[in-house]
Amino acid sequence: MCGIIGYLGDREAYPIIINGLKKLEYRGYDSSGIAIFYENGYSLCKTKGRVYELEKKIYSCKIKVKGTSGIGHTRWATHGIPDDLNAHPHVSNSNELIMIHNGIIENYYSIKVILLKNGFTFKSETDTEVLVNLIEYVKKENKFSLEEAVRISLNEIVGAYSIAIVDKYNPETIIIAKLGSPLALGINKKEFFIASDPIPFIDYTDNVIYLKDGEMAILKKGEELDLRKILDNHKLNPIIKKLQINLKKIEKGKYKYFMLKEIYEQPKTILDTLRGRLLIPKGIICIDGIESHKDIFINAKSITIVACGTSWHASLIAEYLLEKLARIPVEVEYASEFRYRNPIVKEKDVIIVVSQSGETADTLAALKLAKNKGAFVFGICNVVGSSISRNVDAGAYTHAGPEIGVASTKAFTAQIIIFVLLALKIGKYRLSINDNQYQSLCKELGSVSEKVDHVLKVNQYIKEISKVYYHVNNFLYLGRGINFPVALEGALKLKEISYIHAEGYPAAEMKHGPIALIDKNIPVVIIATKKVCYEKIIGNIQEIKARKGKIIAIVNEGDIQVSMMVDHVIKVPETSEELSPLVTIIPLQLLAYEIAYIRGKNVDQPRNLAKSVTVE
Ligand code: M6R
Repeated sequence: MCGIIGYLGDREAYPIIINGLKKLEYRGYDSSGIAIFYENGYSLCKTKGRVYELEKKIYSCKIKVKGTSGIGHTRWATHGIPDDLNAHPHVSNSNELIMIHNGIIENYYSIKVILLKNGFTFKSETDTEVLVNLIEYVKKENKFSLEEAVRISLNEIVGAYSIAIVDKYNPETIIIAKLGSPLALGINKKEFFIASDPIPFIDYTDNVIYLKDGEMAILKKGEELDLRKILDNHKLNPIIKKLQINLKKIEKGKYKYFMLKEIYEQPKTILDTLRGRLLIPKGIICIDGIESHKDIFINAKSITIVACGTSWHASLIAEYLLEKLARIPVEVEYASEFRYRNPIVKEKDVIIVVSQSGETADTLAALKLAKNKGAFVFGICNVVGSSISRNVDAGAYTHAGPEIGVASTKAFTAQIIIFVLLALKIGKYRLSINDNQYQSLCKELGSVSEKVDHVLKVNQYIKEISKVYYHVNNFLYLGRGINFPVALEGALKLKEISYIHAEGYPAAEMKHGPIALIDKNIPVVIIATKKVCYEKIIGNIQEIKARKGKIIAIVNEGDIQVSMMVDHVIKVPETSEELSPLVTIIPLQLLAYEIAYIRGKNVDQPRNLAKSVTVE
């Protein structure tokens, strides 16, 4: 999981590449590097750390960055620690071939052994250096052109890749190829832009080609694109799409971090996700992907939902929604587990895959596995045109807009909205929901954005709570019913950006183990809103208080009973049980943000993480 970028044309390549790398840092940011080509040579600079460290190094070492073709890389380490040597681009033994790579070469070790026997040496621990040397070996042994050598070598590779490779003696040609990892190609009349996603080049062109798995392209300055199949060199017709991305949406504005901006965008995100899909006065829900496959959903015996991380938590909420409103049994699976346990999937089974990025490697692999077994796969994605959205049978976009903070926030609420719509729509088809319930939920959906907006205004008090607890080492998050996944999500938010250990638990499970952790030093965040096992949660609160635990409770406005028992209360407006996660998650996102901020962490780019996990 890394970001790759390249340019070939008449402009100076360096500014395009360095600025593009900054936009790709969400894909990894533990090291970065560039190569800029000129006649018969190139400048190379790589360093451990963020892209601004690379810029500093280029400046302080006075590295020549003049040239109209170049490649760049921002890394999230898989093979070898983040350091200068393991950073990309990687160079072949003869210094002639220079390559960047996103993905994992699974059989790199056996290839490395063969190359070592043939006299090759390696400076880094990476699989990428093995691949660039394999290409060199194949090229020199057989006197092949670079494009033939790339093609033959890639046919020997097991794994995932998107690559860009240049021969220093022919800097006006870049060869790119893709299998499993994303690769977008921007095209103008005389120039090519290569990137892991189109955001780095939207300032220059809105013509994009998304390479498909098993495709490679030979880019020659001033010439037409040459698109081929890696397997048999068959020539392909490129399909050029028009990009529709609004740059303004990708700026931080008045916010210090994207995560905070994205938390505050949620009232709008909810409206955007509902737009055109919910006609409140008539209680009509329109979702194309469901309507055009109505019979599949009506007849579904069960639904399996597959996702990772925050998307998995939204899917757990969907289990409650679909079982309650549509009366269909639902299983929720981690994509990484699903894909490797030979799951029982039959023809026409309904599988829903959920992913903000639409590029998560495990979710994409689970999707393909389900499709190979004949299942009908419905996708819920945020990134338009992403790999997952292009591979499903039908789907719905969340329309949350670009989510840049590594910690997912607005995509989560948007996913819940889609699931509520789905459950209502299918429930209506299957007559498992009565009209009153349906109409009242549609009406409530119409006002939930305002309620979320209202919760965002309690931020000031959350700052105070954060000052009390920012130094602790452990947190416990408890919830019940549909708010149990919210507890899991709150704990995930805290641990990923503040590095405080946090666990989410169903409140009643506490007495089966976690209660042993409770003492005066452990804060317990408990979701205690009305309608979701309120009386039972009061019992759980008493158990914690009896052991001197500190309690931060999320309660409904007007609550007296819980408020009198706990140390801190955060009030949220009352809503229906089905929609309650949309309001209860907001204070938990803010709490995580404020604690990480006080601890001085880089909220948007926490250590060891990346926004899109495009490796398994
Ligand atoms: O793009 P996806 O929704 O497929 O990503 C799944 C997870 O990698 C993601 O939710 C991750 O857990 C986030 N960092 C959570 O905030």
